[in-house]
Amino acid sequence: MAELDGNKIKVRIESVDFYYEDFKALEDISIDIESNRVTALIGPSGCGKSTVLRLMNRMHEVMGKTRLKGKVTLDDQDIYAPGVDVVELRSRIGEIFQKPNPFPKSIYDNVAFGPRLQGRKSRSELDGIVEKALKQAALWKEVKNKLNTSALELSGGQQQRLCIARTLAVEPEVILMDEPCSALDPVATQQIEDTMEVLKENYTIIIVTHNMQQAARVSEYTGFMLIQETGEPGKLVEFGPTSKIFTMPDKKETENYITGRFG
Ligand SMILES: Nc1ncnc2c1ncn2[C@@H]1O[C@H](COP(=O)(O)OP(=O)(O)O)[C@@H](O)[C@H]1O
Ligand SMILES: [Mg+2]
Repeated sequence: MAELDGNKIKVRIESVDFYYEDFKALEDISIDIESNRVTALIGPSGCGKSTVLRLMNRMHEVMGKTRLKGKVTLDDQDIYAPGVDVVELRSRIGEIFQKPNPFPKSIYDNVAFGPRLQGRKSRSELDGIVEKALKQAALWKEVKNKLNTSALELSGGQQQRLCIARTLAVEPEVILMDEPCSALDPVATQQIEDTMEVLKENYTIIIVTHNMQQAARVSEYTGFMLIQETGEPGKLVEFGPTSKIFTMPDKKETENYITGRFG
């Protein structure tokens, strides 16, 4: 089993309890996310995986009344400290969702959207940004001759890679992916996984996936989450190198889950 050199900690979640109104959705979550790695979060539906992603870009704050105890840092800076610019935070931590959600605009305008908001307006600069982002998302070859056609004409897999390009265009540092392949066929899934492999050279990636083979294929670290009973908060059962989690986990619950003997 290959030993992982410890990369720098990019995101640290420290003893977090999290509530939606009065409902405690997460209890005592601590995770260190290394930079330039893919970290996977697995576990049954409802155990709080998406909520853990939201902690990192404060997306839960647009969803109503929530409360967080504990600490989340990005490059050792508390992202919940007073005065943190949430817009800037979200530009540093991009997110890809389960269903591709391109804007009803051209391919070019989708990718140029974020940079334009940042005030980058010159055509030649935008051309460069769009090309680079589409290349990083492994979509350039397929769309370079039809940049002005509607993004909605692309296949599902192409739309998801376009959404990745749109996120990359604003040069985030961390990319959150919440079940990014669950609406895609195996070929499109493979393309996204290949893309992730290249992206981790420059980015830190955290992926939530239902697909355990996918977690095993793409990630260096895996966290397994669980809720004991309906209504109980989600907990992190085990976190470690993916090779260890999938071959000799420390906890019985992890072993039961990864071998399909769940419950
Ligand atoms: N916006 C919300 N308001 C209230 N409860 C929520 C909200 N989002 C998620 N929850 C609850 O929090 C728990 C964890 O949800 P979630 O993070 O979506 O789990 P997962 O992604 O693992 O399926 C679930 O019980 C869910 O019903
Ligand atoms: Mg989810």
